[in-house]
Amino acid sequence: MCGIVGYVGTRDAASIVFDALCRLEYRGYDSAGIAVLDSSGICTAKRKGRLAELSPLVKTLPRAGQAIGHTRWATHGAPSDINSHPHCDCTGDIVLVHNGIIENHRELRERLIAGGHVMKTEVDTEVVAHLIEEKYRGDLAAAVAEAARELEGAMAIAVIHRGEPGRIVAYREKSPLIIGLGEGENFLASDIPAILPYTRKFLALNDGEIGVITEEGVAVYRLEKGSGANGLVKVGDRQPMVVDLEPEAAEKGGFDHFMLKEIFEQPEALMKAVSGRIRDGRVKFEEGEFGFSDEDVRALNKVYLLGCGTAYHACLVGKHLIERLAGIPAEAVLASEFRYMEPLIPERTLVIAVSQSGETLDTLAAVREAKERGAWRTLAVVNQPLSSLTREVDDVLYQRAGPEISVASTKAYTTQLVCLAMVACHMGFVRGRISEDQARAFGQELRNLPEKALGALEAAGLMERLAVEIAKEEDVFFIGRGADYLAVMEGQLKLKEISYIHAEAYAAGELKHGTLALIAPGVPVIACLMDPELAPKTASNVMEVKARGGWVVAIGSQECLNQLQLGEKDVLVTVPDVNPLISPVVSVIAMQLLAYYVARERGTDIDKPRNLAKSVTVE
Ligand code: G6P
Repeated sequence: MCGIVGYVGTRDAASIVFDALCRLEYRGYDSAGIAVLDSSGICTAKRKGRLAELSPLVKTLPRAGQAIGHTRWATHGAPSDINSHPHCDCTGDIVLVHNGIIENHRELRERLIAGGHVMKTEVDTEVVAHLIEEKYRGDLAAAVAEAARELEGAMAIAVIHRGEPGRIVAYREKSPLIIGLGEGENFLASDIPAILPYTRKFLALNDGEIGVITEEGVAVYRLEKGSGANGLVKVGDRQPMVVDLEPEAAEKGGFDHFMLKEIFEQPEALMKAVSGRIRDGRVKFEEGEFGFSDEDVRALNKVYLLGCGTAYHACLVGKHLIERLAGIPAEAVLASEFRYMEPLIPERTLVIAVSQSGETLDTLAAVREAKERGAWRTLAVVNQPLSSLTREVDDVLYQRAGPEISVASTKAYTTQLVCLAMVACHMGFVRGRISEDQARAFGQELRNLPEKALGALEAAGLMERLAVEIAKEEDVFFIGRGADYLAVMEGQLKLKEISYIHAEAYAAGELKHGTLALIAPGVPVIACLMDPELAPKTASNVMEVKARGGWVVAIGSQECLNQLQLGEKDVLVTVPDVNPLISPVVSVIAMQLLAYYVARERGTDIDKPRNLAKSVTVE
């Protein structure tokens, strides 16, 4: 995930910024760069690859007291030296780094180019530098404010201007940015761990705020339409917060484990996954990421979805979405089985490989097998830029979840679902299976998911309390129907992999065909009910469990849970209501939280569960 660092003071800024960027390495990146401002102008060093490769260039930068730096995780434009940040305007006087995605970069680029601006890259960030150049009339903060008004999307920006030495202007909208306060020096960073060795005093910028950082101090302004000279209103003194975290704890954002941090990052990750891909209410992929013409989409006969572990569970939901929305027969297959099942691949078959790491050997091998057997096109839904899988396939759709460090996958799953939902919705519209209004309504559902995910996270407290009881169990059963069945498959995997409790997921209707024999008094059954049409049937299955003395935890929307009549010990966990087709994105969050707190209760090694690895590169 991208990282931003800035420094103004009397020390060697390039070295401090480089050191701070190194502290963000754990977050993952594919390229990095630093710009230094001294009396002769702005010098920039940037390079694709690891910071170690940037290091020799940093040594050639002038020793001066002002610099900005960046680690990039590519979204627009492949990782390369030129696409790395910092980016500059036409004159080279304005230099900036940016985290996030500028959703309207295409329109702005066209307008600026028509106005005579010459751009060197495809990166959305470069457009921001040129936009600030267009607005600049001798005051950088005012120009940033004017530019910010025209920018759509999520962004944290740090800008310097050759004519305004000793000053960094920062702007934040939906992407984190904090200012670190020192003595005779000040800092800027997207993440506290970057600058923790230098200061423990921080000011957080809020959305829509501009910070002007100099050696002597910091001024914060709020961007408001129609007030003040540039619509900039000075924010009164804000009390700095003192962070008393050790660097390792800070990497986890103050959470005890990466898994919990990543669970809580889901609203942001979901927002990034759809950002710029749903425009005017419709799914419209960005250039180069979904290379299918409408004709290609109409010609498709079959879709295979291949993945392992959690990614396979995402494939199951993807199959459901593609069949329902696009009307194309689809099959989700475990990548490790695909090779041995002698798959029949009809003409014009699309193979979608789903993988967080893009390095899972079974998934790579399955894609090769599919190509050998004549798959027409291959598409990867992948999180890790430049991973092996991205080189094996025709097209790539990046999940943009940011690095996932915990072995148990959380935000990778939910962003995979959203990517597959966008693919299905786009295909359905192109093939005339869903109307424009239906496509827009579904697009809006996807845009609403970050907020719904936030609502689901409110279950944390209840799950923490419930975990005390579940942690005493040795067997837990999960049931659901339709998409809820797919969601509980992922829910049970979470519980088993990190708490080591034996967990099984069943289609609720299957209970009475065998598993009911295992339901004895006190056995916990977790039921998921997000679809009001299926809820009455699942409710009957819940009653079958109750009749045998089972203990029920029901996770679902209010409307569905209202259909249950439970006992005193049973627990209802209400999560936000959402289109049932995509409901696993919301319901799984409650199950992730439950798994996390149960594992914590049992004292397991949550981020690195026994016998498991994040990336499985063996068969
Ligand atoms: C391993 C990980 C899982 C992951 C699976 C597939 O088993 O522990 O969390 O779901 O691999 O990984 P991928 O990187 O292909 O999504």
